[in-house]
Amino acid sequence: MSTDVGKAHLETTRRDFMRYSSAALAAAAFAGTAATKVARAAAANDGKLRLGLIGCGGRGTGAMRNALLADSNTILYAMGDMFSDMVDDSLEKLKKSEAADRVTVDDKRKFTGFDAYQKVIECCDMVVLATPPAFRPAHLRAAVEAGRYIFCEKPVAVDGPGIRHVIESCDLAAKNGVVLVSGLCYRYENKKRETIKRIHEGAVGDIISIETVYNTSGLWHKGRKDNWTEMEYELRNWLYFDWLSGDHIVEQHIHSLDKMMWVMNDTPPLKATASGGRTVRTDAKYGNIYDHFNTVFEWESGVRGFSSCRQWENAVTAVYDNVYGTKGVAKVQEHAISGRDGSSWKWESAEKDDMYQNELNALFSAIRKGEVINNGDYMVKSNLAAIMARMSAYSGQTVTWDQALNSELSYLPEKLELGDLATRPAPVPGAAKYF
Ligand SMILES: NC(=O)c1ccc[n+]([C@@H]2O[C@H](COP(=O)([O-])OP(=O)(O)OC[C@H]3O[C@@H](n4cnc5c(N)ncnc54)[C@H](O)[C@@H]3O)[C@@H](O)[C@H]2O)c1
Repeated sequence: MSTDVGKAHLETTRRDFMRYSSAALAAAAFAGTAATKVARAAAANDGKLRLGLIGCGGRGTGAMRNALLADSNTILYAMGDMFSDMVDDSLEKLKKSEAADRVTVDDKRKFTGFDAYQKVIECCDMVVLATPPAFRPAHLRAAVEAGRYIFCEKPVAVDGPGIRHVIESCDLAAKNGVVLVSGLCYRYENKKRETIKRIHEGAVGDIISIETVYNTSGLWHKGRKDNWTEMEYELRNWLYFDWLSGDHIVEQHIHSLDKMMWVMNDTPPLKATASGGRTVRTDAKYGNIYDHFNTVFEWESGVRGFSSCRQWENAVTAVYDNVYGTKGVAKVQEHAISGRDGSSWKWESAEKDDMYQNELNALFSAIRKGEVINNGDYMVKSNLAAIMARMSAYSGQTVTWDQALNSELSYLPEKLELGDLATRPAPVPGAAKYF
């Protein structure tokens, strides 16, 4: 990496991301706006905030339960999904939850189809965004423009155009004092916070390298029904299609890369060189994504991040993140640090530390206090690190942060409608640019 390229990288980084540094100022300036919104909602609704769920699958249902438990002055008011069976299943589950008495969605406020999100956003004060990530840029923009309180699941985009759209939305959120909490959940786990705080305070000395691994088994597949169009089939099995999920390095390994980025104080890596492919999950039913990736991330400081992820049945599984420094090693997933001088530390607290609940608690606490949270900066950077690595694996080239950020390749299909869909074959490294 030449110094000039390094400089260009830093300039782009500054231009595209330093804007978030104004978020704190914007938060102070707009705190009153958030408080006013709560007062308005309260007056209209017996003091209760109306919550809306967009994407009524497993995570959306879980996050909505966490939202209802986080603040008893809330009601579940509207739900939106592509499919009515998903809305009904989710509603049934929430009606059996601890917050059942505040689940007030009637048929008029159950919405389906590609535009369901607009109808939910229109009638609610707070929204959970939990569809497959391909749709997040549009959903996030609409929620930010409407000034809603937002819980935004990861990932937030699958490609360069999507990421840039999200950056704009995060800027707008910061400008308007919109509460925006990211579903990169480890950032809300107290034991991770303490472990990484200690790393930042020098517990392992200067960081030399980070090893981050998410090797897991296969995931769910819903099969195919005769009456489903190709679009419906892909939407129902969205994990396996690059345009919907961004591939599993973006969809799942993002959690590991987020921890890596967090350890690195969210400094963007200069570049990534990755390899990957489909060796186990070769059947056509697994769409066009890879089943393994290995990536080396490089920072200007010389630090290297070694990342590995795979989804293989009947193979050894492991999820861990190790940070190697001049003075010791931190095992982030075990919340343990050992020094070369024989010292050691481990998180021992028995306190309840449910990261999924913590993130929604933080969101409602901010709303009620009239404060602003904007997780946009790390939400975007960790996502872009994953996209950069995927572009490298797909293309067989080293991909820089700038190339990933400025990539024009959109993964979205031409038309969003429940009909035919031409699915790209899995990329062959060296044969396509893919960025
Ligand atoms: N933070 C975490 O630990 C975590 C865990 C699991 C999933 N997730 C994320 O949450 C999101 C949802 O994952 P999931 O496991 O709940 O998947 P899921 O398949 O269970 O749910 C997704 C739902 O979105 C619906 N949907 C698809 N396209 C839509 C559209 N255009 N408009 C409205 N609804 C649409 C689907 O019909 C489905 O009901 C993903 O981004 C995933 O990566 C995060």
